[in-house]
Amino acid sequence: MAADDAGPGAGPPRVEVVAAAKTYPDGTEALSPLDAVFEAGRTTALVGPSGCGKSTLLRMIAGLEQPSGGTVTIGGAAPATVAARGELSIALQDPSLLPWRTVRKNIALALSLARAPIDKAKVDQLVDLVGLAGFGDARPAALSGGMRQRAAIARALVTRPRLLLLDEPFGAVDELTRQDLVEELPPLWRERGTTTLLVTHSISEAVRLADRILVLSPRPARIVADIAVDLSQPRPHDVARSDAFRALVDDVTAALERSRQTTASGRANRDDAPDAASSSTPV
Ligand SMILES: Nc1ncnc2c1ncn2[C@@H]1O[C@H](COP(=O)(O)OP(=O)(O)O)[C@@H](O)[C@H]1O
Ligand SMILES: [Mg+2]
Repeated sequence: MAADDAGPGAGPPRVEVVAAAKTYPDGTEALSPLDAVFEAGRTTALVGPSGCGKSTLLRMIAGLEQPSGGTVTIGGAAPATVAARGELSIALQDPSLLPWRTVRKNIALALSLARAPIDKAKVDQLVDLVGLAGFGDARPAALSGGMRQRAAIARALVTRPRLLLLDEPFGAVDELTRQDLVEELPPLWRERGTTTLLVTHSISEAVRLADRILVLSPRPARIVADIAVDLSQPRPHDVARSDAFRALVDDVTAALERSRQTTASGRANRDDAPDAASSSTPV
């Protein structure tokens, strides 16, 4: 589905990152010029050591952060333009819910901001789907970290974005709920074709959800491996037990190991890297 010159209402967009760099005002170089293309309608997982620049890249694509150099375009348009059309959603690593609004009203706010009609049935359906049934009228302070994160996922999905950016969306979610979400959410964003970028610490989650995995080096992030996940969609719930799945987990784990070993400056910190042992737990 080519959607390069996509206007409002068109299919999922292709995202082009060209020589994008980011140095924060305090001198921290989070990204040195980075090139990446995310094809329309595909799901790409970004894995890499903590602090390597994953969130920075996602926020730049969302138009929340200005690159210090280079460009990001979404279907040929600037991120801010696409955001203003309500066609992209980002679920931030720290779910930023408005404390004075209920879960339902936080989710509905995304529709208002996208100038879409408030569809109460859709909001309720998403509240149920992310496992928050009974908490629709609760305020964020009454929720656990995992519940807040699930509310943020529902808020990101309610506008049916063409570009979905998920920053460690399941980080604070307990294991059983995570398994449910990993099973039930992808059909929602695959339903009508969404370009999805997923930052995750879990290698098995990346293999479970993505069509492609980019492995990043320690800061400033470089792409050290680009791995195609050629498992058919939709994936059966026991896909993690297949040999092909395990081989992919091994490939990604090995690429991460290599990236750490080749960092001569020693910036890579073993404690920061995704946990290869726990990552082989089926999700
Ligand atoms: N607003 C900011 N100001 C200064 N440094 C920042 C800011 N945000 C992130 N950083 C730094 O940039 C680097 C990359 O951060 P981030 O993109 O959050 O990494 P990741 O998401 O991969 O863990 C880190 O060293 C982090 O401390
Ligand atoms: Mg991050």
